[in-house]
Amino acid sequence: MKGLIDMKGVNFSGPRVIKGSNYDSSQPGTTTPRIITVTSGKGGVGKTSLSVNLGISLAKAGNEVVIFDADLGLANVEVISGLAPPLNLYDCLQGRADIKDIITPGPAGVKIISGGSGFSELANLSSSSLQNLTDSLGILDDEADFIIIDTAAGISKNVLAFVASVKELILVLTPEPTSITDAYSIAKVISKYSLHSEINVIINRAAGQKDAGQTLMKFERACLNFLGLSVNYLGYVPEDKTVFEAIKAQVPLLIYKANSPAAKCIPKIGDNLSNKCNEDLSVNTGIREFTGKLARLFRR
Ligand SMILES: Nc1ncnc2c1ncn2[C@@H]1O[C@H](COP(=O)(O)OP(=O)(O)OP(=O)(O)O)[C@@H](O)[C@H]1O
Ligand SMILES: [Mg+2]
Repeated sequence: MKGLIDMKGVNFSGPRVIKGSNYDSSQPGTTTPRIITVTSGKGGVGKTSLSVNLGISLAKAGNEVVIFDADLGLANVEVISGLAPPLNLYDCLQGRADIKDIITPGPAGVKIISGGSGFSELANLSSSSLQNLTDSLGILDDEADFIIIDTAAGISKNVLAFVASVKELILVLTPEPTSITDAYSIAKVISKYSLHSEINVIINRAAGQKDAGQTLMKFERACLNFLGLSVNYLGYVPEDKTVFEAIKAQVPLLIYKANSPAAKCIPKIGDNLSNKCNEDLSVNTGIREFTGKLARLFRR
C-alpha cells in the first residue's frame, strides 16, 4: 500500500467505495475514508486515550488510520503517542509547511496530524486558500480508511463544528452521573440542530460490563425518549490503572500492555466500528465535504 507521504494527485470524481466498513468494496471507483469525530460532554473521560488506541487497533486490523488532534492549543494525541511533531496544520495554512510535512508517522503505522490552532484559522481563509487546503487534504481521501478526530470536551463552537462536519460521531462517557448528564447536553444540541440521527457511544472507566450496560441504558433511554436520537453502543473499557501508567510512560496502552483489561476491550470496539453498516455512509463524500462544512461553521 502506498504511503500517504508519497501520494500525489487526487481524484475526486467517480463512484466512491466506503473503506473501513462492510460496504461492497468490489465496486470500481475511488475510496472514501470514514471521518469520525470523538467527543464528550465532560472533560477527562478518556477521549484522547481512546482515539489513539482505537486508531492503533484499526491499524493493526489492516486499516490506514489518521488521527487529527483537533483539541486546539493542546497536543494530547502526540503526548500520549510519545511524539513531538515539529509542524502542524497552522504551519501548513501559513505556507510554512506542505501537507505531507505535517503528517507524522506514529505507533503501529497510525499517522498523526496536529491541528495546532490551524482549524480556527479556517475562519479567515480566502476561498482559494480553502480550495488549496481541501485539495491538499484530499490525499487522505485516497489513502486513509479512517480519520479519527479527537476534540476537546464540551459544547464550544469549535467542538460543534467538528461534530457537525462529519458523518459519524463517537461520544465517550463514563458511569459518573455528571458525565452522563453532560453527554446528554451534547445529545440535546445534536437533536435540536438535526446534526445526526444516531450517536455511537463508548462507555469508559466502567466497573465492568454490568456497570457499562446500566450507564448505556440510562443514556440511551433519555436519548430515545426525549430526543428521538438512536444510540449505537460500540462497547466499554473498564477502569484500569494501566491506562494511567501507559499515559505516564507516553506509550499507547495497546503497545504498553496489550493484555491489560482495558486494552483487551479496544479491538472489540474497533471491530464493532468496522462492521457497522451506516446508511448515511453510502453518500459519504469524504474530505471535500468535511473541510467545506468545517470552514463554513468556523466562519459563522
Ligand atoms: N479506562 C481507564 N481507566 C483508568 N483511567 C483512565 C481510563 N481512561 C482514561 N483514564 C484516565 O483519564 C485521564 C484522562 O484521559 P484522556 O486524556 O484520554 O481524557 P480526555 O477525555 O481526552 O480529556 P480532555 O477532555 O482533557 O481532552 C487519563 O490521564 C487517565 O489517567
Ligand atoms: Mg483529550
